Amino acid sequence: MVERYVMSIDQGTTSTRCILFDHRGRLVTVAQREHRQFFPQPGWVEHDASEIRRNLERIVPEALSDVGIDVGQIIAIGIANQRETTVLWDRRTGAPVCRAIVWQDVRTAQLVEDLRRSPGDAFFLDRCCLRPSTYFSAPRLRWLFDHVDGLEQRARDGEVLFGTVESWLIWNLTGGADGGLHITDATNASRTMLMNIRTLTWDPELLEFFGVPSAMLPEIRPSIEAYGQARSMLPGVPITAALGDQQAALFGQTCFSPGEAKCTYGTGSFLVMNTGTDLVRSRHGLLTTVAYKIADQPTVYALEGPIAVTGSLVQWFRDRLGLISSAPEIETLALTVEDNGGCYIVPAFSGLFAPHWRSDARGVIVGLTSYITKGHLARAVLEATGWQTREVVDAMNADSALAMKELKVDGGMTSDNLLMQFLADVLDLPVVRPLVAETVSLGAAYAAGLAAGFWPDLEVLRRNWHRAAQWMPDMDPERREWEYECWKRAVERSLGWIR
Ligand code: G3P
Repeated sequence: MVERYVMSIDQGTTSTRCILFDHRGRLVTVAQREHRQFFPQPGWVEHDASEIRRNLERIVPEALSDVGIDVGQIIAIGIANQRETTVLWDRRTGAPVCRAIVWQDVRTAQLVEDLRRSPGDAFFLDRCCLRPSTYFSAPRLRWLFDHVDGLEQRARDGEVLFGTVESWLIWNLTGGADGGLHITDATNASRTMLMNIRTLTWDPELLEFFGVPSAMLPEIRPSIEAYGQARSMLPGVPITAALGDQQAALFGQTCFSPGEAKCTYGTGSFLVMNTGTDLVRSRHGLLTTVAYKIADQPTVYALEGPIAVTGSLVQWFRDRLGLISSAPEIETLALTVEDNGGCYIVPAFSGLFAPHWRSDARGVIVGLTSYITKGHLARAVLEATGWQTREVVDAMNADSALAMKELKVDGGMTSDNLLMQFLADVLDLPVVRPLVAETVSLGAAYAAGLAAGFWPDLEVLRRNWHRAAQWMPDMDPERREWEYECWKRAVERSLGWIR
């Protein structure tokens, strides 16, 4: 019998990956290509959406030919993507009308401050469960309308289309200007500030407020259902899932029950907890988001704590301070000392995300004395990730009756044993890492395979999850709480730095 596979496309902030998974959920092949990051002004981050599309066109055949697999053996395609990044393109030519504005971009800071003052957070929280932040798509759209001549009118006339990256890729894969599907999935739409979180439809009041014409918007679809067939690259292969990458990781970690949570540690980190079909409104600085929606089944929601800077602090330590020459060296350096020597680093490089949401915060290093060595600084760098996670877990526990029992982790930083032990210590929870580390891609593949009948149900997927490593808490409770107090005092000092 001919072996069949699911293809997963993970379009992330720094690269695009194409991975094939077999029926047992094993990774068969990976093809990957990085794209350029544009920083036209301080705080601005842009991508070229055409470059991303071209990269996809190159890696798809590469992945297939690497292992001699034929397009006909691909049963379905699932897409996971960097979220909130805003792409605008010309419906007729298919060309982007400007560079995509990336989720990290803070050019909308002033607009966001104004929105928080009036109409105020409650107006937005009621409808989309998000408080205004430079993180989300709608302020970017408004900014573009205000800064690109004629754009708003072209959007009203239906000449310009909007989408997050999965929307852009699906449109291109299914025919582009020649009848491509203009759709998004509910997880991605839940990050725009334009979707009503209860009805999963574009909210007329939010559209009116931001001045976004519905003519430019994609249709919101469930995350897991047959959308249509690819025409280019993989002719005839059905696209059956799309999820924001962090929701895909939640799915790949098989966090299908309320209270199950994962955190993906990359340049930033994203802790997401399944809250089931209950929409839990956060009172402690978290986001309420769509975890996934399977065809006509009820929506599954999640609470999320995004942390803007974690792995990128290690990169800063390496590239800007030059204190290590490769990221893994941070662990070796940190192990040259017993503890942080009283030093804390709050990496609020462009403000703080959850649970503070303060764009006026900037990074601080506190507790410096002549005793401090680069080893202590390395500890403080790693510990910043631990404490930021603790703040989010505390907020989750305060917001939800579902006390977290363990934290599933994935992403590049999880290879750092010292950090993983520190996490278990400061969370006072077991921290577990799965055998298949590519949880984003696996989640997109699981979702697509489920819709295509490749896997029958969630239980089968859950049985595929295997533990590779586990760290148990082992820290004196008094010390933990005292150090947490020190961290909180350090955070206080970072707030309000920008006036
Ligand atoms: O919300 C932003 C997130 O989706 C980005 O993830 O892994 O592409 O940096 P990543």
